[in-house]
Amino acid sequence: MEKKTVYIETYGCQMNVADTEIVLSVLHKAGYTPTSELEGATLAFMNTCAIRENAEEKVWNRLEHWRGFKKRNPDAVVGVLGCMAEHLRKDIIKSSMSIVDLVVGPDEYRKLPTLVDATRATAESGIAVKLSRTETYDDIMPFRAEGISAFISVMRGCDKFCTFCVVPYTRGRERSRSLTSIADECKQLEQQGFREITLLGQNVNSYDDEGKDFSDLLAACARAVPNVRIRYTTSHPQDFDQKLIDTMASHDNICKYIHLPIQSGSDRILKLMNRTYTRDHYMGIIEKIKLAMPNAAMSTDIIVGFCTETLDDHEMTKSVMREVEYEGAYMFNYSPRPNTKAYDTLADDVSLEEKSRRLNEIIVLQNEISARKNLIEVGGEHTILVEGRSKRNEIEWKGRTDTNKTVIFPRLDAEVGEYRRICVTRATSATLFGQLMDQKESKTIMPHSDRGEVIYDALPHVGSAVSIDRQNHAFELPVINS
Ligand code: SAH
Ligand code: SF4
Ligand code: F3S
Repeated sequence: MEKKTVYIETYGCQMNVADTEIVLSVLHKAGYTPTSELEGATLAFMNTCAIRENAEEKVWNRLEHWRGFKKRNPDAVVGVLGCMAEHLRKDIIKSSMSIVDLVVGPDEYRKLPTLVDATRATAESGIAVKLSRTETYDDIMPFRAEGISAFISVMRGCDKFCTFCVVPYTRGRERSRSLTSIADECKQLEQQGFREITLLGQNVNSYDDEGKDFSDLLAACARAVPNVRIRYTTSHPQDFDQKLIDTMASHDNICKYIHLPIQSGSDRILKLMNRTYTRDHYMGIIEKIKLAMPNAAMSTDIIVGFCTETLDDHEMTKSVMREVEYEGAYMFNYSPRPNTKAYDTLADDVSLEEKSRRLNEIIVLQNEISARKNLIEVGGEHTILVEGRSKRNEIEWKGRTDTNKTVIFPRLDAEVGEYRRICVTRATSATLFGQLMDQKESKTIMPHSDRGEVIYDALPHVGSAVSIDRQNHAFELPVINS
């Protein structure tokens, strides 16, 4: 019998990367082998994102591209999964002129084998987009590619309803996996050779397993695998508390890197966004973090040009960036999303041209701040997790600091998955360069001073990725997104 294969392209955030691993696991159990070749695949899926208009445009363009594939492989089942499936539902089948056979939302992945069979038997398109209040895929072991870095989704959904955001509609209500199953999965991952685990949720501070909160979970994971680094994303400033700060500070293997999206520096805009905190509250958290973990690195998300944003509001965003001095920021033009409160009730009244001008301004500012902060690192030491070759050449490898910065260094005897001490010798706004310290020959290697400012590994973030490189989630470069 012919081998059944499944090909998946993943767009969007890390939660989608983790979901793709769930989908592969479900389908593997049903007899499908994952393939990295679209051509000839029995199932061809895109796991999609709806966060901004351009995220959806990418998928439409890609579907257009797949028209030829469908012609050559008429028996293949083409599916759109994920947030765009949930957001646009049957419109996807209607407007893609029939190349899409299946539309499946994020809570319906268990049904995939049955849906595929039904579609093949009837030649009719299938759609499953019901959201669940309980589905966490807790019992499904994700089908992970080999590597050193793994994701675990610890909760799904979001109840925050920021007025600009589509996620509460595409992912449904918040629900958490059990603490014990997550800690057990950490141990299994360690046994499989993973050296870094990132706990994922749209709003991890809402984690709740019968009264056990996110700090309890983080501590349990850190204790379960003391030789593995633990990271997490994303926190919401409203619920970020002292207990979480203390938990981070008291475990060596919890990375001292916090992604804490602020979105805007103006209280008026924060209110319109329904972010439920003020700038003062946010700055209070930053103060507490810096007090407990002076070397912790901070990053953020910022939206420019939100409805009614004035130049004064924009200046307040710039001033908060200067005040916090983030190591990095993901910055976006506001993109109105159908179904959201802002779309329904507020005018998108900042022109695209003006949004782009403001975006450019904050990117320039962030680059200056990142460059300054990276420069301070020169002469300092870090323990890095060795990730492998840099994109530049075979001699230079890359690793990641606990503060989530990429360090490029001459490989010498370094192996993937090792923790090594490194001394920083040079820095750009995007990358650190260094030398291994625990290796004699490293002293004889030329520093990179003859090279000019080369920026490595420019990395697209949420919603801008054409299939995410799973090893590659360091904050490196701000990306213009739309
Ligand atoms: N749950 C996370 C973020 C999820 S989406 C949080 O609350 O912080 C990632 C980022 O995309 C958001 O932080 C926001 O900056 C951006 N984003 C979300 N909706 C957007 C929209 N409609 N237009 C532009 N950017 C948006
Ligand atoms: Fe969206 Fe706000 Fe939820 Fe983040 S917290 S996913 S921005 S609604
Ligand atoms: Fe969904 Fe993540 Fe995009 S939750 S909308 S894939 S950012």
